[in-house]
Amino acid sequence: MAAFGTVFTDEMILSRFENNGWTEPAVVPTQSISLHPGAHVLHYASTCFEGMKAFRHADDSVHIFRMEKNVARLQQSSELLTLPKVDGAMLSQMIVDIVRRYASDVPMPPGSMYIRPTHIGTEASIGKAAAPSLNSLLYVLLSPVGDYFAGGAKALRLLLDDNARCASHMGMVKSGGNYASALQPILKARAAVQADQVLFCPNGDVQETGAANFLLIDGNEIITKALDSSFLHGITRDSILTLARDRGMIVSERELTVEELLERAVKPGAEAALSGTAAVLTPVGTLIHAGKEYHVGGGKAGNTTATLRQALNDIQWGRAEDKFGWLTRV
Ligand code: PLP
Ligand code: COI
Repeated sequence: MAAFGTVFTDEMILSRFENNGWTEPAVVPTQSISLHPGAHVLHYASTCFEGMKAFRHADDSVHIFRMEKNVARLQQSSELLTLPKVDGAMLSQMIVDIVRRYASDVPMPPGSMYIRPTHIGTEASIGKAAAPSLNSLLYVLLSPVGDYFAGGAKALRLLLDDNARCASHMGMVKSGGNYASALQPILKARAAVQADQVLFCPNGDVQETGAANFLLIDGNEIITKALDSSFLHGITRDSILTLARDRGMIVSERELTVEELLERAVKPGAEAALSGTAAVLTPVGTLIHAGKEYHVGGGKAGNTTATLRQALNDIQWGRAEDKFGWLTRV
């Protein structure tokens, strides 16, 4: 299987914001886009994106998971980056249209079609370091994918880092600059302690990793950071918490300190996991902090992570009732 996100469908769909309005969405080849070298995005990082998936069911129908919530998050990211306002109905229709057009390319489970709406500031003005781009380009890429973490459901090693992933008011924006600022710490953690990911914990506050949210599971309780502007409001996080509540689990959205995490995570029965569109729900086996390794659950894998992952997948793949109305049939 090709690496996650390296294969694209032959076409994508796009619309431009120019002269104060959106152009009629057009399906075009997934090839080069033409940008002025002075485009706002290339200099001042006026860019945001989304990640969601479409799934093939046993009857061959194709369903997009939580499309409205992803569209709303792109609208919010665009607003916080002062990009032109995204027309939510138009973007939803663009997504449905392009997925429908490539429905036959949606892989069978456990694969899926990853959907990447992207919004960039295109105005050619290098003088606008402190001013918004008045023009933009919105396009939706499709990429058939398998597992994001090579190694499947193998428990991950996380290095706890005392620094923030990005500026504290930007964490909830799904913007390229945040990924750029997390890259060096991640590469260093890989080289130094063979960590798979970095868990950012500024001032001892357990936040998130570079591409997924973090959950601690202790018996019947799930603990994860309460929503604030400092980290990405994951839609998988929201889905898993909803499924957990539905099963009678206690969901505690609150501050979790590194101290409490390390103390509770090593107890027998404790579990930790990363949630995200790409990550789904992937178990965490080891936490590394201040040169010491902590084995989650005392080194024994628990089964709540696997049960919740299965419950999520069952809805996505049409094997369980879509009781929360999360699927959009294309
Ligand atoms: N946090 C970061 C930084 C991410 O990149 C992602 C992935 O999209 C998530 C969390 C999880 O978000 P979601 O579940 O909406 O995919
Ligand atoms: C996603 O899960 O959608 C993400 O954006 C993570 C990305 C790094 C693949």
